[in-house]
Amino acid sequence: MQIFGVDVGGSGIKGAPVDLERGDLAQERHKVLTPHPATPEGVADGVRQVVEHFGWSGPVGLTFPGVVTGGATVRTAANVDKSWIGTDARALFTDRLGGLPVTVVNDADAAGVAEMRFGAGRGRRGTVIVLTFGTGIGSAVFVDGTLVPNTELGHLELDNREAEKHASSKARDDHDLSWEQWARRVQKYLAHVEMLFSPELFVIGGGVSRKAHKFLPHIKGIRAEIVPAQLQNNAGIVGAAMRAADLA
Ligand code: BGC
Repeated sequence: MQIFGVDVGGSGIKGAPVDLERGDLAQERHKVLTPHPATPEGVADGVRQVVEHFGWSGPVGLTFPGVVTGGATVRTAANVDKSWIGTDARALFTDRLGGLPVTVVNDADAAGVAEMRFGAGRGRRGTVIVLTFGTGIGSAVFVDGTLVPNTELGHLELDNREAEKHASSKARDDHDLSWEQWARRVQKYLAHVEMLFSPELFVIGGGVSRKAHKFLPHIKGIRAEIVPAQLQNNAGIVGAAMRAADLA
């Protein structure tokens, strides 16, 4: 079975039909640039372009970088235009896609679901926390494989500031940190999350997962196992399609 997955990110809107049995893209993905400001109307146009590129006419799962309840309603917008808050994103995208059935889910939850089924968390029981380091820090918490949606652990307070402002991948660029300096911040953050949840496993996702060898060796003193995500760039697309299938 195939469902179309779209990952709405800060820099690009990427999508492809997803083969749900294999947990992989059924065709090469297509990407358009995310408009700035990333307003609901602008993003919906980008999503339409991506979906139309494939002439797709079935169900569509989309990620969103904020809290999304009921597969539809956006509740927060930390790193996108604030006009998203309160938007019925399902209705907006359904309308823009000419009536196709749409499900919208948090981006980290989508990536997490894909990692748990097809990647670094496959078959893992107990508490597993998938963290995505990008513009912000996204989180997906699983207990015996079941997702607790919209956990938003990137907004935990650490040293009097929001953790994602201090330890996201963007913070590494903005503050011109070496991998080792950044790893110390991530270590402190992981120690805090570990204190709260005592997970068995941390899966580190986002673009940095490809560079895991540069920073993971510098992270010390965490009891949980720490591994890089495996699906990397496609985790959001695959997970969005999987969530759309699950929630349908
Ligand atoms: C948002 C989360 C999102 C994360 C990664 C955070 O700022 O609040 O919902 O998952 O960024 O995009």
